[in-house]
Amino acid sequence: MRSARRPGEKRFVFAEEEPPRVGRVEWLEVAVPEVPDPQYGMYVWPCAVVLAQYVWYSRNTLRGKTILEIGAGAGLPGIVAAKCGANVTLSDSAEIPNCLDNCRLSCQINNLEDVPVIGLTWGQISPDLVLLPQIDIILGSDVFYDTEDFENILTTVFYLIRKNPHALFWTTYQERCADWSIESLLYKWNLKCVHIPLETFKADEEFLAGSNLPGSHSVHMMIITLETNIPSVT
Ligand SMILES: C[S@@+](CC[C@H](N)C(=O)[O-])C[C@H]1O[C@@H](n2cnc3c(N)ncnc32)[C@H](O)[C@@H]1O
Repeated sequence: MRSARRPGEKRFVFAEEEPPRVGRVEWLEVAVPEVPDPQYGMYVWPCAVVLAQYVWYSRNTLRGKTILEIGAGAGLPGIVAAKCGANVTLSDSAEIPNCLDNCRLSCQINNLEDVPVIGLTWGQISPDLVLLPQIDIILGSDVFYDTEDFENILTTVFYLIRKNPHALFWTTYQERCADWSIESLLYKWNLKCVHIPLETFKADEEFLAGSNLPGSHSVHMMIITLETNIPSVT
């Protein structure tokens, strides 16, 4: 039974792909707070719904995996991962405390009070970054939105992947400018990426997880790894 919607909450329903198993449809409903605030991290962005759909699609591989979400905002992909049995840590800029508070509220609403929410600012080595446990997957939705941050994001990702050479960075980005590219930075940091077509995880839809957020936005999904590591794509 679905609980009543609280004011300022957005709901997303992830359901088993068609055709459902006879007599049983697997589904997951999550709710995230949305607060009228100029900070980008207080809203759910189209990229988050697409990445959350990839997480949901991969749910049978996630139990017991350790996952860190960076630039999480309201944390939709990480919350779906935690609901699917992963050990999740959510993070956002240490310099935006109200965004971290909103992320904590998101965890509370979904009965995930045990999920740690920490301040991790891209490009900065902090005790919280250094003390993170072993990581299997890094999540980042719509983190590549300002070219000024690209190198700092990849510095942080590189730091984590060097410590966890098997780790995969699952990330979605929205095409806002055809000139933007991270190719040269990936090369510089000895990283490589594989593009995952949206139709392979049923995300090539304008209406996804009960939400019209993806709309007609051009969202892409990629998996970034160390150059020497081959990603296992589900
Ligand atoms: C476009 S929003 C995306 C939020 C969320 N991932 C989503 O897709 O709904 C970008 C996110 O990056 C965070 N962010 C911006 N600068 C950052 C930095 N230097 N270090 C860490 N996070 C940062 C913002 O607070 C915000 O949550």
